[in-house]
Amino acid sequence: MKRTLATLCLLFGAVGAWGAEGTIPLEKAHSSIDDPASLQRGARIFVNYCLSCHAASYMRYNRMAKDLHLTEEMVQDNLMFTTDKIVDTMQVAMRSTDALKWFGVAPPDLSVIARARGTDWLYSFLLGFYADPARPNGVNNLVFKDTAMPHVLVGLQGIQQPVYRTEQDQFGEQKKVIERLELMSSGQLTEADYRRTVRDLVNFLHYVGEPAKLQRLALGKWVLLYLFVLLLVAYRLKAEYWKDVH
Ligand code: HEC
Repeated sequence: MKRTLATLCLLFGAVGAWGAEGTIPLEKAHSSIDDPASLQRGARIFVNYCLSCHAASYMRYNRMAKDLHLTEEMVQDNLMFTTDKIVDTMQVAMRSTDALKWFGVAPPDLSVIARARGTDWLYSFLLGFYADPARPNGVNNLVFKDTAMPHVLVGLQGIQQPVYRTEQDQFGEQKKVIERLELMSSGQLTEADYRRTVRDLVNFLHYVGEPAKLQRLALGKWVLLYLFVLLLVAYRLKAEYWKDVH
């Protein structure tokens, strides 16, 4: 018993200390898969900027065409670079052994990343790259410290640098923590446009994580309507059965 208590204290103590690191809270993505135009833009960004390293091997091109209101020809001409079969899944061109050699870690499949990490985490991750000369690829990330992923959207976003503030930790020691990031050289997009682009991409990954959600949302309204009508009928029926019982 004593030992369990001690373990629990240690565990919560550790979590508490981790929470006190002064990390910046995640930004809200306000992700919505109910916007086909945004999903289409997100798909374009994904195939252009992510599919070279990350697969989404649970997603088929023909299913995507249907869900995103695109014709199969449009998908074939604009979104398919790693295969010419519309029934294929979104595979990556790079071999995983090469990836291991280049990055020291294989870029994970992103099929269910939105469910594993959450959309706010993804949004903050893609906004959170900043220059860090101490890292081998010159960047670090606010929510994924020391990530091996390069900042592949740097051309769009530009380069950010951290602004620090000093804080006292629980032992009374001063330390520098990142307060926010600021743009030190701009990319092709304005900050607002970059945020919109990242949101489109997060929406797309949200959709990829659970494609059936689109049908579920569409069907849900009809199911609720059906249940409501059923309620009226059942209520009338009950009134009829019980009308002579008092
Ligand atoms: C040049 C190769 C490369 C490209 C292109 C790339 N990534 Fe990555 N990505 C990586 C590597 C390598 C990792 C593993 C990082 C680690 O574990 O330290 C990673 C990790 C990630 C993770 C974190 C996964 C986890 O562990 O939870 C996400 C999310 C992600 N990438 C999203 C994207 C998105 C979205 C794009 C397109 C905008 C993209 N990546 C483009 C190489 C790449």
